[in-house]
Order: sequence, then C-alpha cells, then structure tokens
Amino acid sequence: MSGKTPIFYIGATGYIGGSVLAKLLKHPSADTFDITALVRSEDKAAKLNKLGVRTVIGSYKDVALVERLSEAAHVVFSMADADDLPMVQAILKGLKQRHAKLGDLPILIHTSGTGVLTHGQETKGMAATDVIYDDSDFEQIANIKPEALHRNVDNAIFEADKDGYCRTYIILPSTIYGIAQNHLVDAGIQNPYSIQIPMVIKASLGRGRAGMVGKGLALWPNVHIEDVSDLYIILYDAIVTKGTEGVDHGIRGYYFGENGEHAWGDISRAVGQAMVALGLATEAEPTAFTDEELEKYFGSVETGNYWGTNSRARANHSRALGWKPKYTTQDMLASIKPEVEAILKQQK
Ligand SMILES: NC(=O)c1ccc[n+]([C@@H]2O[C@H](COP(=O)([O-])OP(=O)(O)OC[C@H]3O[C@@H](n4cnc5c(N)ncnc54)[C@H](OP(=O)(O)O)[C@@H]3O)[C@@H](O)[C@H]2O)c1
Repeated sequence: MSGKTPIFYIGATGYIGGSVLAKLLKHPSADTFDITALVRSEDKAAKLNKLGVRTVIGSYKDVALVERLSEAAHVVFSMADADDLPMVQAILKGLKQRHAKLGDLPILIHTSGTGVLTHGQETKGMAATDVIYDDSDFEQIANIKPEALHRNVDNAIFEADKDGYCRTYIILPSTIYGIAQNHLVDAGIQNPYSIQIPMVIKASLGRGRAGMVGKGLALWPNVHIEDVSDLYIILYDAIVTKGTEGVDHGIRGYYFGENGEHAWGDISRAVGQAMVALGLATEAEPTAFTDEELEKYFGSVETGNYWGTNSRARANHSRALGWKPKYTTQDMLASIKPEVEAILKQQK
C-alpha cells in the first residue's frame, strides 16, 4: 500500500469528467491521490500518464474490468454515463467485494442529471409546469418515480448505500454550458463541449434559422461547466473533512448542479441573434422544429422533444455544502454566440 487514496475514474476524457479531473489534479491534496482512469484511446492514455494518472485501456462495457478496478479503489468517480445500469452494477459489485475483503467503506460519486425531473413534465415546449424539485427536500426526492430517466441507475445506487457496503453521492447537473478551458483541454485529452445547447445550435445552423420545440416555453435549469466541476470537488472535500456520515448520502445524497433557469425558447432566440449577427440568418426569432427536423437533427422525434420538457430544480442541498456557483442564466445566454462560432469552425 502506498498510503495514497486509490481513486478509480471513469470518463476522464469527457466534458464533465475531464473538467473535474483537471481540478483534482490541481487539488491541494493531489499528491495523495493515486488515480487510475479507464480510457478508450491509447493516445489520450499516454497524455494522462504524463500528468501522473495511471490508465487502463478498455470500455466500461467490460463489466469484469470495471468490477476489478472498482474493487481496487477507495473512491470511484463515475463521470461517463448516467444511464448504463450494467456499468454501475459492476462498480457496486467491486465495491461490495472490497468492503467484504478489507472492511473498507468505499465511496461512489456518480453523475446523473436533472433529466430525472422531467418525468410527467413533458409539454413539447407548449407550456412551463410548476413542479419545482428541491434537492434538500428528501421526501420529494424519494418520491421520484422509478420510471423517470436515469432513476433506475440512481435507485441501484441508493440500494447499495442502504445495504451498507459503500457510501454513495449523486450529482445531477442540469444544462451545462460553456466551452471547457483547462490543462486537459489544452493537452487534447478531454472533450471541451457540452451536449444540449450545441445540439440546438447544430440543428438551427442546419435548417438556416433558429429552431425550438413547440413554443419554447418549457423550463430547465442551467449551470456553467466551471461551477459544476467545483461542486464535485466541494462534495469530495466535504466527505473527506466531515467523514462519510457527515455528508448526506444514499437516498439523501442527491446534489443538483443548478444556478438559474431558462426557457428553451430563450436559448433558441440567442442562437437566432448569433446567426443574424454572423450573417447566417435574416430572422432571429426561432420557429418550431418540424417532426422531420427533430428526426434529422436529434435522432428521433421522441429524443428531440426532450428539448421541450420541463426540469425545474433548486440546488439548496448543494449550496448547503458551501458550493457558491458564480455564473448565471445571463452568462449562459452570453455563452451562445462563442459556442455558435466554435461549431462553425469545427464544421469547416
Ligand atoms: N453535458 C451535460 O450538460 C450533462 C448534464 C447532465 C448530465 N449529463 C450526463 O453526464 C454524462 C457525461 O456527460 P458529458 O457531457 O461529460 O459527455 P461526454 O463529453 O461525451 O463524455 C463521456 C465520457 O464517457 C466516456 N465513454 C463513453 N463510452 C465509454 C465506454 N464504452 N467506455 C469507457 N468510457 C466511455 C467518453 O470517453 P471517449 O473519450 O472515449 O469517448 C468520455 O470520457 C452523460 O451520461 C450525460 O448524459 C451531461
């Protein structure tokens, strides 16, 4: 034993995972971390090795590998996929074995998403709804339906914590925005781009005018990539400082990443304004995507209609950890033009 904390990291090359890993590598206790990342690219693995991160080449679909690497870790950061149940089951199996063999109480920090709050709030953009979830309202959180998005995975994690062989904490980012800027991006290791806003931009560029689902009235929370990656560090530090029992875990361990709310139409309007400013459209006002466009740009009508769901969240639990997000919805709207420009550059 090196005396260091063994950490198993899944998603090191991703938008969220890379941004959090960049902060872990600059953490005041970084020299006490022994990080092993599961990555698919040999090239990125070599770059991570140079930063002091051990790597194993492989996929999280290889559940035997995930189980073995999880068993070897006191802390697992699950940053790659909010919906892959077999991967999470393999992590939990590994942690269970570790607990049985060593008596250690390992820690899982998993990434879910506020998509879990959209269940029953699907209005295809035609209306805002008034159900607002508060991550410090444990009864409200416990009552989220098992059929909600991500919840099957989250429920498996709650069960593991209840069984007592590990302690689990789940961060639920909302619409994350901003192009990540850190030394992992500079080294060509991580993806610097988010998902939801870039998809609206790509669809809008594709059709030559900003688009939205329905009337764009549905509401979602948003958070800047810098702020949400800070939340992981603040949560980790709280667990280390206060001990696993000093921080709410299991079914009480839901932490939203949210610092403001937007109507999807406002995002589309900002995309439209950027398109007009860049000479790519004559009208800034967005129009509704047709079903054919949803299929073309989002993969299916059902997937596209996700941009017309409501997810309303207040991150009081996260803030109670001492998290102080800096960026607001105004910053999110201001981030859209640079995002459009970055996408245009990629498409050249
Ligand atoms: N971005 C958001 O706004 C947001 C908000 C809430 C929740 N989430 C959820 O958070 C999760 C991560 O999102 P993200 O934005 O960080 O996505 P991302 O940038 O696409 O990152 C995904 C990460 O998972 C890795 N990965 C994918 N398949 C893998 C496999 N089979 N084996 C090993 N690694 C694999 C990728 O590695 P490669 O480099 O090899 O592809 C990458 O490191 C997703 O489930 C997403 O839905 C995202």
